[in-house]
Amino acid sequence: MANMLVLGSQWGDEGKGKVIDLLAERMDLVARFQGGANAGHTIVVGGKKTVLHQIPSGILNPGCVNVIANGCVIDPERFVEEIAELAKHGLAVSPDNLFLSDRAHLVTPLHKALDAQHGAKVGTTGRGIGPCYVEKANRTGIRLEHVRDGSYIDHYIDQLAAHASQAGCEHLREMCGNTVAISEFRKAAEALEPFIADTQAIIDTARRGGKSILYEGAQGSFLDLDQGTYPFVTSSSTTIGGSYTGTGVYIDFDRRIGVVKAYSTRVGNGPFPTEQDNETGRKLREIGREFGATTGRPRRCGWLDLKLLKQSVTVNGFNYLAVTKIDCLSDFETIRVAVDHDEHGHPVYKELSGWQEDISQVRERAALPPACRAYLNFIEEHLETRVGLVSVGPDRNQTIVVEPIC
Ligand code: IMP
Repeated sequence: MANMLVLGSQWGDEGKGKVIDLLAERMDLVARFQGGANAGHTIVVGGKKTVLHQIPSGILNPGCVNVIANGCVIDPERFVEEIAELAKHGLAVSPDNLFLSDRAHLVTPLHKALDAQHGAKVGTTGRGIGPCYVEKANRTGIRLEHVRDGSYIDHYIDQLAAHASQAGCEHLREMCGNTVAISEFRKAAEALEPFIADTQAIIDTARRGGKSILYEGAQGSFLDLDQGTYPFVTSSSTTIGGSYTGTGVYIDFDRRIGVVKAYSTRVGNGPFPTEQDNETGRKLREIGREFGATTGRPRRCGWLDLKLLKQSVTVNGFNYLAVTKIDCLSDFETIRVAVDHDEHGHPVYKELSGWQEDISQVRERAALPPACRAYLNFIEEHLETRVGLVSVGPDRNQTIVVEPIC
């Protein structure tokens, strides 16, 4: 069975959750390698919607081992909530099917308070992600190994004291003295303990045993700290390089799959050349139900940008594309695609015909309307990368498997 890397190729929210859930059906192990509760993977099975934030999408498939690897940051309070939410859907999460790296970092209430204070310029999700990674790079972070050896509360109090001593941080001084908040944090963090493991060894053993492994990205290529639209990015490495540093295990992926939404969206601030801040954008938002899975914020919407996607293919070496939400373009008479940017950074568009037919029940590429096939062919030719999968609706079965990628 093939090993796979599945990444968002745009600014996140490409529909990775559904694609990974589908592919994970055949996988022995699924690993998350970066990010934390800022992610939101919406999955619909049999009409039932589940939103995953930190837990890998493989959790929906019994028999799949799930790993939150060392490149991730874990919010214990949200983690406990997420397990309870999954239990409501009848999905059991236990130390038998989920492992947390002892080297992953702990998101603390301090990080969330700092994000609330400083994250507005970038338009962060407010989940404490940036401040947690800052602490990691500053070498003052708290790792899950500190939860295991019981030293994490001491480290946390040191972190609080260091920040609270700065001018204008009265609320952080209050946090220092709030023993109830500290004990709640302690309770949630203690719940992580049974899940903590050496995930590098777990993945490597699976690899050596010939198991099929899927590395699951969160966010997207243009939110990568280095490759993205800096400074309007997240604080981790969302691209292929991050999958290696974030797990500690090299995998020679048979499939490097870039998930491409058939149009573009972005939440938060930052450049978005093909944004349609007009009726077209509103129509895309409405049809595509483009509201953040984590924050509920309306997403900015616009046309597909092949100039950017080409860069994404270069960075990640995609050999397959999974095109999602193409059914959401069915209402448009004409569809625009940016093929380049001019010297001012403005998109240069090519206009293609729309198809104006319901395609949500189509299950074969050949049965798609000719204009829809032409749209897919145009993407493939421009990006010199095969389309392996097309999603025509939110449900698992609303999928056209073009190439045998799963
Ligand atoms: P942070 O990751 O919360 O620090 O936010 C940094 C930027 O990444 C903001 O523009 C967020 O909106 C964006 N972002 C973070 N996570 C996601 C995601 O899962 N989907 C889309 N955008 C995200």
